Amino acid sequence: MTQHVTGTVPTESSLAASGHREWWRDAVIYQVYPRSFADSDGDGIGDLPGIRARLPYLKKLGVDAVWLSPFYASPQADGGYDVADYRAVDPMFGTLTDADDLIRDAHTLGLRIIVDLVPNHCSDQHEWFKQALREGPGSPLRGRFHFRPGKGADGELPPNDWESIFGGPAWTRVTEPDGTPGEWYLHLFAPEQPDFNWDHPAVHDEFRSILRFWLDMGVDGFRVDVAHGLVKAAGLPDVGHDGQVKLLGTRAVPYFDQDGVHDVYRSWRRILDEYPGERIAVAEAWTPTVERSALYLRPDELHQAFNFDYLGAGWNATELRDVVDRSLRAMNAVHAPTTWVLSNHDVVRHSTRLAEGDPARGLRRARAATLLMLALPGSAYLYQGEELGLPEVVDLPDEVRQDPAFFRSTGQDGTRDGCRVPIPWSGQAPPFGFGIAESGPSWLPQPTDWSHLTVQAQEGDAASTLEFYRSALAIRREHPALGAGRRITWLDSPDGTLAFRRDSESGSFVCTVNLTRTSVTLATPGTLLLASADVEPGTGTTELPGDCAVWWSV
Ligand code: GLC
Repeated sequence: MTQHVTGTVPTESSLAASGHREWWRDAVIYQVYPRSFADSDGDGIGDLPGIRARLPYLKKLGVDAVWLSPFYASPQADGGYDVADYRAVDPMFGTLTDADDLIRDAHTLGLRIIVDLVPNHCSDQHEWFKQALREGPGSPLRGRFHFRPGKGADGELPPNDWESIFGGPAWTRVTEPDGTPGEWYLHLFAPEQPDFNWDHPAVHDEFRSILRFWLDMGVDGFRVDVAHGLVKAAGLPDVGHDGQVKLLGTRAVPYFDQDGVHDVYRSWRRILDEYPGERIAVAEAWTPTVERSALYLRPDELHQAFNFDYLGAGWNATELRDVVDRSLRAMNAVHAPTTWVLSNHDVVRHSTRLAEGDPARGLRRARAATLLMLALPGSAYLYQGEELGLPEVVDLPDEVRQDPAFFRSTGQDGTRDGCRVPIPWSGQAPPFGFGIAESGPSWLPQPTDWSHLTVQAQEGDAASTLEFYRSALAIRREHPALGAGRRITWLDSPDGTLAFRRDSESGSFVCTVNLTRTSVTLATPGTLLLASADVEPGTGTTELPGDCAVWWSV
């Protein structure tokens, strides 16, 4: 079904005329994975007081908002994306009072807080699901999930051919209260994550109430987990097998990106708009096309969506230019900001992804990629540790791994622990200031050679990646042509390079990127503001080293 833009669309000039610049349109949002950020009680697991104590660090870094991955009560079958109680903080992370204190302190510092909302599924330890199991087939609580009888003579086969994102069938058979093998329930992720049935009004009511609970606590927005998954095609039709959908996959399937999800987001938008202070929602929506993603951002739906096409693009000038153009076109059509992201808790860190086996090259490219990203119009997402140039940890022993995808697949594929290793803050040996003691546990081991990557080691060193991020974010804040607006103008540049211009009323700006391995000579467009590597600006032309980006004021 083709969908059309609905609602009143504000134009760029009407927004400017009203003097209203919505904060989220060009915000830099920093993702904290709470388990791995800072551990205030020395149990080896990061927590809310740990994050609270590090808020000044985030303020100094220069971000606008902090997105916290889930910290709710959870058995942690999927790093907290299996929520047992949406209104409680898991004791491993702290208490509701800690959450309240964290939000209050962040606001005092001028930082906004976005929390994760997981509406596609809950934990098998959620009260509703436990009660559904107890009540048996046909019970009202089973109606809030997708319970079905199995196929085959004794119901021994799953109800359809859907596969879990983490591998294996997307259905698990339960044992009924009388001890017999019974119905199957749907879980697009791990068996410990039963999918809600969004055709049931109680599910809608519950999530509206959960939204209000956190909005009343003062959060500035929500990151909506698996936003494309809530509504399943009527009758749960077979996919017609030809492989499994991988994390962030874009195949059209009957369990993702169904048009019915948009009604949910229209009702949520009305709630967000009831609250003062521009509360927002950002969709994690894996859709077949960027145009389908834009549908989630129509003026009466959500505010932003992650740009996974950008994250997935290679280090290639043509490919990146194409993704940038397509993204801007699709998002501009619904007057939504485009977002940019290079890393998150589900993917291999970009310094390793771009390295092609050479860590030094990876870091050079990662820094250049950051300057490119932060020069594009819209909002940018940073993942904790990228500002330290952290690489993916690729040699974690199997016995410490916790990603459910690891256990349900054949190993490396889909493994997400390597980007979740705790942050090194200070000192010479693990846990590098992550905990409270000099030597102490960390839930995943850090490489012993990370002492040069700590915040302490990089602070004040102009050549460090940390100081590079701080400079980039400070310039972005001060320079009006960065971030804001909706357009870029591509400039002629040699093959394998990119050059574009951003204009604003109070100044213009050029970003040049050399994506090749060898240096190229480009016209000097203006005054050098910041470079991702050593660059000596010349009067007429400037030599740009390989894998390097430069910001120029013009
Ligand atoms: C999202 C999260 C991922 C989680 C999955 C299931 O993709 O980012 O970490 O495993 O949803 O909730």
